[in-house]
Amino acid sequence: MTNTLLILPGDGIGPEVMAEVTRIIDWFGARRGLRFDVTEDLVGGAAYDVHGVPLADATMAKAQEVDAVLLGAVGGPKYDALDFSVKPERGLLRLRKEMDLFANLRPAQCFDALADFSSLKREVVAGLDIMIVRELTSGVYFGEPRGIFEENGERVGINTQRYTESEIDRVARAAFELARKRGNKVCSMEKANVMESGILWREVVQKVHDESYADVELSHMYADAGGMQLCRWPKQFDVIVTDNLFGDLLSDVAAMLTGSLGMLPSASLGAPMANGRPKALYEPVHGSAPDIAGQGKANPCACVLSFAMALRYSFDQGDEATRLERAVEKVLADGVRTADLMQAEGAKPVTTTGMGDAILAALDASL
Ligand code: NAD
Ligand code: IPM
Ligand code: MN
Repeated sequence: MTNTLLILPGDGIGPEVMAEVTRIIDWFGARRGLRFDVTEDLVGGAAYDVHGVPLADATMAKAQEVDAVLLGAVGGPKYDALDFSVKPERGLLRLRKEMDLFANLRPAQCFDALADFSSLKREVVAGLDIMIVRELTSGVYFGEPRGIFEENGERVGINTQRYTESEIDRVARAAFELARKRGNKVCSMEKANVMESGILWREVVQKVHDESYADVELSHMYADAGGMQLCRWPKQFDVIVTDNLFGDLLSDVAAMLTGSLGMLPSASLGAPMANGRPKALYEPVHGSAPDIAGQGKANPCACVLSFAMALRYSFDQGDEATRLERAVEKVLADGVRTADLMQAEGAKPVTTTGMGDAILAALDASL
């Protein structure tokens, strides 16, 4: 079977971190015989500059055909004043919605070498390995009605939280399936105390559990308390399943448990295609980081680890994914650090490319 990849570097640090991933993809081709048929295209502000839209129709069509899409990041101050409909972020949201990527897997793993970089105490985060499953194609991100309207002589901004039973059912199944391969525990988070959509969410998750996954331990938590528990004692969790907006917030919180937002990968998965592989997009959790863009300071690990997730979930190469994850872990254990992972004044960080070099050397050493 051929392996097709669409690479969308995007904006800001997106192209910088993706350049390192491209070298790693080439390494797997040359040294592991894993051939990828790669196409590169534009998304976000970069696409707007050329096409006047943050995602061209031809790019969308290509994304629907390939085995996996790899995305860097979108957005930046240059595009802040654009009309909402053509903002860079709309390009990413269109990809997620039209590919129907309903299950967003956001693992937060604390590598031992980074346990002192979290703002929390070492014993709270060391050995942490949790998986947030964020619903990605519905909820308040997409619910109607939405917009800014005139009402009684003033403007009103409206977004609607909306979930159907089938949308909750399918993301709950994804979470339970993952839990079975990990610690066998799921904690579902919503606000059933104040939102009807939360009441339905809790009911459906419980029903899916009782009917099909009774062997998995299930608990429910209000999302605000969930945020508190993530900071208090995150190791109580294995898989967390939650909606689109709560998942966005909770995964940024979880990022800081690992030491840096520059470490967090993600996989967004949909239904299986004709070849049995799921529709899939892989991207770091971080954004375009305009404050450090163009300076060689970006940590490429989140993007590299996103490619590792692609190896595992799209290309059935779990062993090669582990090889890549171990290479990143080894480099960090050796003390190689980009600037976001430095605390000591005067310590010398490596550049984005320097981190890529070190990961490639660790891959060579793994053979
Ligand atoms: P951000 O993630 O871009 O940056 C937050 C902070 O983390 C910054 O200080 C940045 O320097 C740092 N950071 C992020 N990634 C890093 C990395 N790999 N290495 C080192 N440091 C890193 O979030 P923001 O500043 O809130 O948003 C900036 C832009 O990115 C906005 O336009 C936003 O909409 C967009 N954004 C895009 C995505 C995406 O493409 N998936 C995700 C989040 C934000
Ligand atoms: C993320 C980002 C996106 C989101 C934006 C850029 C659309 O914050 O992927 O976490 O809100 O989902
Ligand atoms: Mn986010």
